[in-house]
Amino acid sequence: MKFRYDVVIVGAGLAGMRAAIAIAEKNEDVSVAMVSKTYPTRCHSVCAEGGTAAVFDKEDSLDLHAWDTVKGADFLADQDAVELFVSECPKEILTLDAWGCPWSRTEDGKIALRPFGGQSLNRTVFAKDRTGFHEVHTLYERILQYPNIEIFSEYFLTGLIVENDEIKGLTAIDIKTGELTLFEAKAVILATGGAGRLYGFTTYSHNVTGDGMAVAYRCGVPLKDMEFFQFHPTGLVPSGILMTEACRGEGGYLLNKDKERFMKRYAPEKMELAPRDVVARAMWKEMIEGRALEGEHGLYIALDLTHLGEKKIKARLPLIREAAINFAGIDPVEKPLPIKPVAHYTMGGIHVNKNCETDVKGLYATGEVACISIHGANRLGSNSTSECLVFGRIAGENALDFVLNKDFKLVKEDEFFEEERKIEEIFNKNGSESPYAIKKELNEVMDNYLWIFREESGMKKAVQKIKELKERYKDVKITDKSKSFNTDLIYTIEIGYMLDLAEAVAVCALFRKESRGAHYRLDYQKRDDVNWLKHSLAYKTADGVKVDYAPVTITKWEPVERKY
Ligand code: FUM
Repeated sequence: MKFRYDVVIVGAGLAGMRAAIAIAEKNEDVSVAMVSKTYPTRCHSVCAEGGTAAVFDKEDSLDLHAWDTVKGADFLADQDAVELFVSECPKEILTLDAWGCPWSRTEDGKIALRPFGGQSLNRTVFAKDRTGFHEVHTLYERILQYPNIEIFSEYFLTGLIVENDEIKGLTAIDIKTGELTLFEAKAVILATGGAGRLYGFTTYSHNVTGDGMAVAYRCGVPLKDMEFFQFHPTGLVPSGILMTEACRGEGGYLLNKDKERFMKRYAPEKMELAPRDVVARAMWKEMIEGRALEGEHGLYIALDLTHLGEKKIKARLPLIREAAINFAGIDPVEKPLPIKPVAHYTMGGIHVNKNCETDVKGLYATGEVACISIHGANRLGSNSTSECLVFGRIAGENALDFVLNKDFKLVKEDEFFEEERKIEEIFNKNGSESPYAIKKELNEVMDNYLWIFREESGMKKAVQKIKELKERYKDVKITDKSKSFNTDLIYTIEIGYMLDLAEAVAVCALFRKESRGAHYRLDYQKRDDVNWLKHSLAYKTADGVKVDYAPVTITKWEPVERKY
């Protein structure tokens, strides 16, 4: 099967949908396909809970939002991109408001704001604790109004077709029929989300496997700052389900086994609302130094909401209460919740500039799949959904400008056959290795050696082990030989993607000999701006990962010591 659209967007989460709307709003003649492996309303963005950052408070300013973001990022963010970002956030909130997003309100009807980690003032707009869910549904309803946006749900991305550094299209498996499908396009926007399932203990849905990052990387597009992975402080034990930062924003405490609010020893001013890297490290230290609680699933820290009272918990955190009752058997109105740090966000991603452009003409990336970079070494909570909205729109607008008055670059039959041959080769695999055993071991490597505290010998083991897993992956067995809904094939391809990405994470982390943001090395505990104030760029080569570096853009904020 073959389709042809002016713009093909891969991914139907917040960033992908926002990009599609941006195009359709400006031009009803440009054809847009939105291709994704789930239905739009089942994208991972619905799991966003706590809120979306934007300046609305009279005491607040765009400069303060930018400064908090740059400082939170441990100065690795590109400041021109951050300034653009913060200036666009409020407009996006008002746009979604106009489109019917049910933001929570103050008594006098204003859009309510809650505190979030590392933000100087209340700056997080929210819809109870189901913010992502409501944002997704608002955008989805909007999308349905535009006849020039066509949705291809349950199509799994397998490759990009690039010639002379220019995009020509992409291939995807139609999951329902198993048929490889060609999408020719003048422009492609990747909006496939992060790579959180590299880790075993994670807040991510099972389908967040870094597909867009991996296919771009395989085409020679570099991945930026992959060593920076965010660990959210409060993953419910044992499932890893996100207990939103809004629990602490609304006044919740973190307690160790002595019922001590231990954050006073690590971040005396911000306490539980220090940025995530600071809080996650403090919690892990409490755990390894013997001050954590212990239960049937091992060590944990207590998230205490009981003092907030039933009324507030039900009004502001209803999803948290429901999830805690269903998945831990605990009502937070009555008892503290068992939580511990959990893999939550991929700061790195496809190297793009602030227009969401890659070095391949016509190829764009936006949302978590991309690294612009506005989050640097550590993202502030609630800046991610804002990023999806702001840079989803920017990617859409730039792709639209690119395709106007442009011809299709047609995909040759041979190019498509080559993509078919690659998929057929995997489909026919009949080796001795279980892809699922490989994935389990990969998760263990990441959880053990590329977690909150890292050091040279562990990361070397990780690099070696990932290489071994990649060798074993060549000998996998696809057990299901049917065409329709062959999840065995899809999962196996995803695992191949994750192996490539894990290698990039491990190599970049091993090379970066300093501690910055979420990348904390026990053997190099200080930030080193002289040698390491630079972005990593990982390239895929026949000999493995090649790492290069690029400068960080500083506009007005020189790096200083980070204190909270
Ligand atoms: O804790 C949260 O609600 C997560 C928000 C975010 O990652 O921005």
